[in-house]
Amino acid sequence: MYLELFGLHELPFRLSPDPQFLYLSKQHARAKAYMESTIWFTDGFVVITGEIGAGKTTLIETFLHELQPEVIVAQINQTQLSPTAFLQTVLVQFGFSPFNMKKPEVLATLNDFLIEQHASGRKVLLIVDEAQNLNSKVLEEVRMLSGIETTKDKVLRIILAGQPELNDKLNSKELVQLAQRVRLRFHLSALTREETDLYIDHRLEVAGSQGRRIFADDTYPTIYRLTGGVPRLINTLCDTAMMAAFGRESAKVLAEDLDAAIQELQWVEYASRTNRMRAPNIQAASAPGPA
Ligand SMILES: Nc1ncnc2c1ncn2[C@@H]1O[C@H](COP(=O)(O)OP(=O)(O)O)[C@@H](O)[C@H]1O
Ligand SMILES: [Mg+2]
Repeated sequence: MYLELFGLHELPFRLSPDPQFLYLSKQHARAKAYMESTIWFTDGFVVITGEIGAGKTTLIETFLHELQPEVIVAQINQTQLSPTAFLQTVLVQFGFSPFNMKKPEVLATLNDFLIEQHASGRKVLLIVDEAQNLNSKVLEEVRMLSGIETTKDKVLRIILAGQPELNDKLNSKELVQLAQRVRLRFHLSALTREETDLYIDHRLEVAGSQGRRIFADDTYPTIYRLTGGVPRLINTLCDTAMMAAFGRESAKVLAEDLDAAIQELQWVEYASRTNRMRAPNIQAASAPGPA
C-alpha cells in the first residue's frame, strides 16, 4: 500500500547497511579508497572513525561485497571481548575451532596460518567494526597481530572502524606503538547541505522513484537542519515523514509531514544534540512548531 502510493518497489530509508543504496559522497569515496588501499600494501592498516550513523558499516559492507575472493577476511563486530576471546573469534573467522585452546596456542595457530597464507600468495585482512569498544589489552593484541611478518613482509592487513572514541584510544600514551603502525586515519564526517539533497534523491531513485520528486522542495533544507547531514538521522526522519504523507493519502511529502514526524519522533534539533555530534556550518535554528 505504502510502496504503491509512492510508486516505489522498495523501502527507501531503511536503517540496514545495504550496499545497494550506497551514495558515494566525496568523504565516503575517500574512506572507501582508504579501505581498498589495505589490499594494495602489505602493511595496510587503516582506521576509519565517524559518528553513529555516518556510514561506516555501510562502507565496510560495500567494500566486502566488491572484494576479490582471493582475499581472506576475518570480520569482527562483537567487540566487548577479552584478549583471548578476541583472538579466538579471529581464528573462528579463519575456519578454526579454537575454543579449547589457551592463549599461547591460539597465537601460535594464528601466526602459522598467517605465514602460510602469505607463502601461498593469499592476502589476509582483519576488519573490526565498532572498534571503539575494544579495550586496550585487545588493542595491544591487534598491534601484535599487525606486527607478524616474514623476513620481507607483514602478513595481516587491518581495518578498524569505530566511533570517535576510537581516536581518543589511539591517541592515548598506552597505545603509542599501535598508533605508529596505522598508515591512514580518516574521520568520516556528515554530509554537506548539497550532499544531503543528493543523498535523499539517490535513495529514492534506487527505491524506484524514476526521477519523480516525492519530497517537496522546501522540505530539503529543513531535513538538513534537523539531521546535520547524518545519514542515519536523515533516514529516520524521511521514513517517518513519508508515513505521515501516507496517512494523508498523499504521494508528496510536504513541510507539514515533516512537522508531524518531528512531533512523533520527539525530534531533537541536530545542533542541540550532544556536543559530541559536532557539525560545521549548521545554524542553531529552532524546530518549526506543529502545523
Ligand atoms: N553513503 C551512504 N549511502 C547510503 N546510505 C548510507 C550511507 N551512509 C549511511 N547510510 C545509511 O545510514 C544508516 C546508518 O549507516 P551505518 O553504515 O550503519 O552507519 P555507522 O556504521 O557509521 O553507524 C544506514 O541505513 C545506511 O544505509
Ligand atoms: Mg556501524
